[in-house]
Amino acid sequence: MSCGLPRSLDADADATMPAITLSHAAHAYRRGSLWQKGRGERLIELAGVRRGELVLDLGCGTGGLTQQLAELVGPGGRVVGIDPDEARIALARDTAVAPNLEFQVGTAEALGDIARDRPVDLVFSNFVFHWIRDKRAVLRQLRGMLHPAGRIVVQCVSSLPVLVAELSHLADPSGEKILRDFAFEDAAALAHHVEGAGLQLIRLEEQQGTHVYPTLDALLTWWRATTHDRFDPRAIEPAALARFAEQHGEGGAFPVHETFCWFEARIAPAPAWGRRG
Ligand SMILES: C[S@@+](CC[C@H](N)C(=O)[O-])C[C@H]1O[C@@H](n2cnc3c(N)ncnc32)[C@H](O)[C@@H]1O
Repeated sequence: MSCGLPRSLDADADATMPAITLSHAAHAYRRGSLWQKGRGERLIELAGVRRGELVLDLGCGTGGLTQQLAELVGPGGRVVGIDPDEARIALARDTAVAPNLEFQVGTAEALGDIARDRPVDLVFSNFVFHWIRDKRAVLRQLRGMLHPAGRIVVQCVSSLPVLVAELSHLADPSGEKILRDFAFEDAAALAHHVEGAGLQLIRLEEQQGTHVYPTLDALLTWWRATTHDRFDPRAIEPAALARFAEQHGEGGAFPVHETFCWFEARIAPAPAWGRRG
């Protein structure tokens, strides 16, 4: 069955995976991604959302942040949430209900005519760009649908957290395949893509953060859900998992140290050809 993921995610998916498993993964993702949600709420503050705006939430996942955006734009505005994961979109549609809110299954690489009647005031994207391989092409596409005074606000992970890399390697071969799907890039590379896409970088910050999973099970469940059920902890030898727990557990908890970036970009002003002086 196709779960509507980008080709890179879908290529190795288990053809017999039942819908119930994917739906379970979507629920598990929502429960286990509180750190990402907190960072997303901070990004919403930084985005300065105004009433009446049209907002695109790119890679909206299960729609928790999309709903907050819809409350901020109010009844005169509109928010469109897009994500390739059909199960996450189904959960978003069930739980984030508002007349000014709409969810679509789709990818950043093929957005189509989502905004229809008007340009987008704000593109918001929380923890998605590290899945996108050709960031410059996507940014160029977003620029094309942006209002001349609009902005793009993005937060993403810059590099693979060491703990997660180690865990994934233990689950070879599923873990190895998952790591190939990510497209981490640091702040300097992101800045380069922004400018290459005809955008002006307004702000960019790289930061460190730590999310703590209270048990090994919580860590495994989160990483499995984040990877759309593709990381399979059952592939890890019990003895190797015990060694991992002993080495990385801190009083039974597992801290994941992450380097992440956020930036704001706008359409670059046209060059002032022929200006005197
Ligand atoms: C870490 S989740 C973040 C979800 C949501 N933005 C949030 O903060 O709760 C990343 C999301 O990006 C989506 N995603 C992955 N590749 C994508 C692509 N090429 N285009 C759009 N979304 C993508 C995934 O399906 C997933 O729901």
